[in-house]
Amino acid sequence: MHTVTANGATIPALGFGTFRIPGPEVLNIVPQALKAGFRHIDTAQIYGNEAEVGQAIASSGVARRDIFLTTKVWVDNYRHDAFIRSVEESLTKLKTDYVDLLLLHWPNGAVSLAEQIGALNEVRKAGKVRHIGVSNFNTTLMAEAVKLSDAPLVTNQIEYHPYINQDVVIDAAKKAGMAVTGYYGMADGKVFSDVVLKDIAARHGKSVAQVVLRWLVQQDGIIALSKTVSEARAIQNVAIFDFALTAEEMAAIHALANADGRIVSPDGLAPIWDKAA
Ligand SMILES: NC(=O)c1ccc[n+]([C@@H]2O[C@H](COP(=O)([O-])OP(=O)(O)OC[C@H]3O[C@@H](n4cnc5c(N)ncnc54)[C@H](OP(=O)(O)O)[C@@H]3O)[C@@H](O)[C@H]2O)c1
Repeated sequence: MHTVTANGATIPALGFGTFRIPGPEVLNIVPQALKAGFRHIDTAQIYGNEAEVGQAIASSGVARRDIFLTTKVWVDNYRHDAFIRSVEESLTKLKTDYVDLLLLHWPNGAVSLAEQIGALNEVRKAGKVRHIGVSNFNTTLMAEAVKLSDAPLVTNQIEYHPYINQDVVIDAAKKAGMAVTGYYGMADGKVFSDVVLKDIAARHGKSVAQVVLRWLVQQDGIIALSKTVSEARAIQNVAIFDFALTAEEMAAIHALANADGRIVSPDGLAPIWDKAA
């Protein structure tokens, strides 16, 4: 699998997402995803499945050091002491003494960004976290976070699929040496009925999911997350490194973006999003 390098981190370009996978299903699918070839697992405190992710990894037969593991601190835990405590809890649940990447899950203006970034750096310095980053940050918040951080931030994890233009955030991330990690690649299922994507998929003898994931990882500095509870789909979704989209196909998929394409924007959490240029 190819990797993305960002500010000293080497991150597998495709990660297995675990949002909305309850614990018992995590115990079933995560080992299968690892068997299929995934080596990057994405979870979060708020997903409520860190314990099962840890158990699945520990019993998978794949060495911990061969897996890139990400978790995210929930917004209620951003005050310094709660932050540090929550990371300890995450590590206990994940049955590991470090995570490869720790993210701030969403912005939260109730706690100063300096306090949040300070805590991220503290756990990194203590060796509990190899790399740090943010999620759902706009470019203004990203710039502030970069300025406040002693250690470089390695990624901003954001919604990214064919219906949303994220060029502004991607350009800003690149300028800061950061990657962008895309979530909701399947646009909540919308991609599966898209005639443009179906046509490209047919041309390559691939599925729409594979085409979308390929479109994501074929972009410089982009990491894609992919979630499924199906073993057959996990096997399918990891098989995206044996074909390439043409420049015309990449452009045709980019052209699907529209101003109303954003799906995830929860009240009380979402920042003022950057507008596409
Ligand atoms: N930072 C954040 O705020 C944030 C927000 C959202 C998500 N994320 C992360 O990003 C990950 C990915 O996002 P997502 O969970 O929305 O998943 P996704 O990868 O966009 O997949 C969405 C749905 O597509 C279906 N699917 C996947 N592969 C398929 C295939 N080959 N054929 C047909 N259907 C397929 C899956 O259903 P089945 O399971 O039934 O196969 C899944 O529920 C999350 O799991 C999470 O780790 C982060």
